[in-house]
Amino acid sequence: MIKTALITGPTGGIGKATAENLIADHDLILWCRKPHEHHALVNHLLQIRPTANIWLCGCDLADWNQVKNEAKKVLSLTDKLDTLILNAGQYAHPCQYVNGLEINYRAGHLGHTLLAMLLKPMLEKSASPRIIALSSIAHRAGKALRPFKTMNSHNSIQEYADLKLANRLFAIAWSHLFPHIPAVSLHPGVVGSGFGNKGGWLVKLVFSLLKPFILTSEQGANTSIWLSRQPQDYLMNQAGHYFYQCKPTDTKGCSKKLNEALSLWGASHQVLIPVLKS
Ligand SMILES: NC(=O)c1ccc[n+]([C@@H]2O[C@H](COP(=O)([O-])OP(=O)(O)OC[C@H]3O[C@@H](n4cnc5c(N)ncnc54)[C@H](OP(=O)(O)O)[C@@H]3O)[C@@H](O)[C@H]2O)c1
Repeated sequence: MIKTALITGPTGGIGKATAENLIADHDLILWCRKPHEHHALVNHLLQIRPTANIWLCGCDLADWNQVKNEAKKVLSLTDKLDTLILNAGQYAHPCQYVNGLEINYRAGHLGHTLLAMLLKPMLEKSASPRIIALSSIAHRAGKALRPFKTMNSHNSIQEYADLKLANRLFAIAWSHLFPHIPAVSLHPGVVGSGFGNKGGWLVKLVFSLLKPFILTSEQGANTSIWLSRQPQDYLMNQAGHYFYQCKPTDTKGCSKKLNEALSLWGASHQVLIPVLKS
């Protein structure tokens, strides 16, 4: 049976490799920062399955009013959404702040949270809904509430770690609040995507040191793809968990981090309420 998945950040790297695989048995909603620039991607995917339905949409996830407008359009594209893959993400280099919040955090955590909230009615129409959030092993250095307290730190490593922790905590809080729509997070591995090139000298250095171990984007997409195709019972049992190499890992973290996750949910919601209510 053909399912429907929405992937954020499908223009390259892990997101594109995920789309190239899922197109075999999914219709795809491609959430791109600049949708009008990606007709070639649609044509490329249609070569893999010519009968697929593919919709281009989206905007910069840091532009919340635009996210709201675009999400309204997504709601009218098709009747249900089975899989929401919150994949888009970028290292903050250099750090740029709007109202004290770093723009990649505004996009990768708050923009994704807003999008998930807005698309929830569409996920609720699916018999096997799920949300898959791309986190990273870097989340271990993150602090959940620091972005709301320490404004303008200009520390790229800290900003990225906080973002990736927020992606993991999002899955925990969401699964607790909306258990009928399981959410999970994952570390894709160190992947030779566009990510390393956009990250400044430190990220480039880390990627060059790790060169022998770097995964292709296709390998990096494995866990996202695998989770997209797992039966609903499995997802329900693993809700909130963090995956690496198609396996749940640090499974105790899910309950240990619940309070932290709910605090972050509260702080994030506070910031997003004006957009949700407007
Ligand atoms: N690569 C790794 O080693 C690694 C490791 C751990 C976790 N991750 C995570 O994996 C995910 C995918 O990364 P990747 O390696 O595939 O990186 P990538 O090749 O740089 O792709 C990132 C994608 O995200 C999109 N994007 C970034 N900021 C956006 C914004 N503000 N609004 C809308 N779209 C935005 C990009 O769109 P544009 O084309 O418009 O720039 C691109 O499509 C990220 O969340 C990353 O944090 C990656």
